[in-house]
Amino acid sequence: MSHSAPARPLSIAASGPLVGTLTVPGDKSISHRSLMFAGLAVGESRISGLLEGEDVLATAGAMRAMGAQVERTADGVWQVHGVGVGGLLQPQVALDMGNSGTSTRLLMGLVASHAITATFIGDASLSKRPMARVTEPLSRMGASFTTAPGERLPLTMRGLCPAVPIDYTLPVASAQVKSAVLLAGLNTPGITRVIEPVPTRDHSERMLRGFGAQLTVEETPQGRMIAITGEAELRAQNIEVPGDPSSAGFWMVAASVVPGSDVTIRNVLMNPTRIGLVTALRMMGASIDELAQRDVGGEPVADLRVRHAALTAIEVPPDLAPSMIDEYPILFVAAAFARGTTVARGAHELRVKESDRIAAMAAALGLAGVRVSEHEDGLSIEGRDGDPLPGTRDARVASLLDHRIAMSMAVAGMHARAAVTIDDAAPIATSYPAFVDTARALGALPQWMNR
Ligand code: S3P
Repeated sequence: MSHSAPARPLSIAASGPLVGTLTVPGDKSISHRSLMFAGLAVGESRISGLLEGEDVLATAGAMRAMGAQVERTADGVWQVHGVGVGGLLQPQVALDMGNSGTSTRLLMGLVASHAITATFIGDASLSKRPMARVTEPLSRMGASFTTAPGERLPLTMRGLCPAVPIDYTLPVASAQVKSAVLLAGLNTPGITRVIEPVPTRDHSERMLRGFGAQLTVEETPQGRMIAITGEAELRAQNIEVPGDPSSAGFWMVAASVVPGSDVTIRNVLMNPTRIGLVTALRMMGASIDELAQRDVGGEPVADLRVRHAALTAIEVPPDLAPSMIDEYPILFVAAAFARGTTVARGAHELRVKESDRIAAMAAALGLAGVRVSEHEDGLSIEGRDGDPLPGTRDARVASLLDHRIAMSMAVAGMHARAAVTIDDAAPIATSYPAFVDTARALGALPQWMNR
């Protein structure tokens, strides 16, 4: 798992235009949920297009440890034989979540309403991330927790069966917290309700319905109210996982900023709760065409053709934050090439991701020669009006065990005078194992370095 992997420095030098057609790996959020819901369903589910990154493999391992049969039958194709809601078994080993916050928080929800005890461990990055946001509502439902100081991992929890249904208003805009409560509600008698004042990604809702759960969504004056009826029975499904828009984001920005580029990204999930980056880039003047719009497994999907364009700075609307929360690092890279100063505020949550992404990107872009000022809730970035970045020369960007910092800065290196070097690009394997190969196939020049 990533916390034991040796550091792998990566250097990227400027290249000619990026040209070609590519596919991105399966969506990470949907991949996690596919394994969890199939693992709880009655019967055998088949999943194709699963993201086989370390984060998702951590979910697969945990579901296996709790009794589901989870098998890989071909590239991206997995078969899962579920235990039935209420049927999770006591894991005999600690569940190693690696770098994955989504695995941890959603699985905690599942465990909360089963009479089992589970221990969650993770790498240095995950062990710094706040878990109070899930232990708080799950405690109200009856689960109990022993945690490292500050409600962090390592954490041992004991679920309660039957658990107590709650009505819960999300104090932070978080699809992970929403999903944790809904998943706990699956095996809880009665109706569990979550109100989200700000809409976040809705894959749990869409997929739970697809698996046959009784789940309703209603707009109320307080926000979206999601109600799930407990002691649900989930039925096995065939799931096709669409391409991850967060992974596509790196190529959207790379093609936009490297002169002469023309890239088509096939099969990208276009769920409105996920495509804030497309909106922001278009506001900046990016050329992104949506081709072949279609529906895959109840989700909108399209091919995206992205061509180089002169970008202009914007004030990033804070209400886009939930729909592009994972894309700020790569948006900051786009801003570094725009004309004028881009201001992104209202994104406090970035401080508690795989790294503190505000501080990490301020330091990384600063090292590559961009003028950046840091705010409590975002960054202001002075764009270079299409000029290449100076690059990091002999210094190395710290990726801080954060895949998205590593990939974002790799993109920054694709249009820089001197190369951009990243101290450790091994974390890329958590979400996008083929990133470096795809970069090469498009004509970019990434190079693994000696330590
Ligand atoms: C995710 C939700 C988001 C996101 C993460 C995946 C999910 O986290 O950053 O990468 O799959 O539910 P938060 O819920 O903490 O915002």
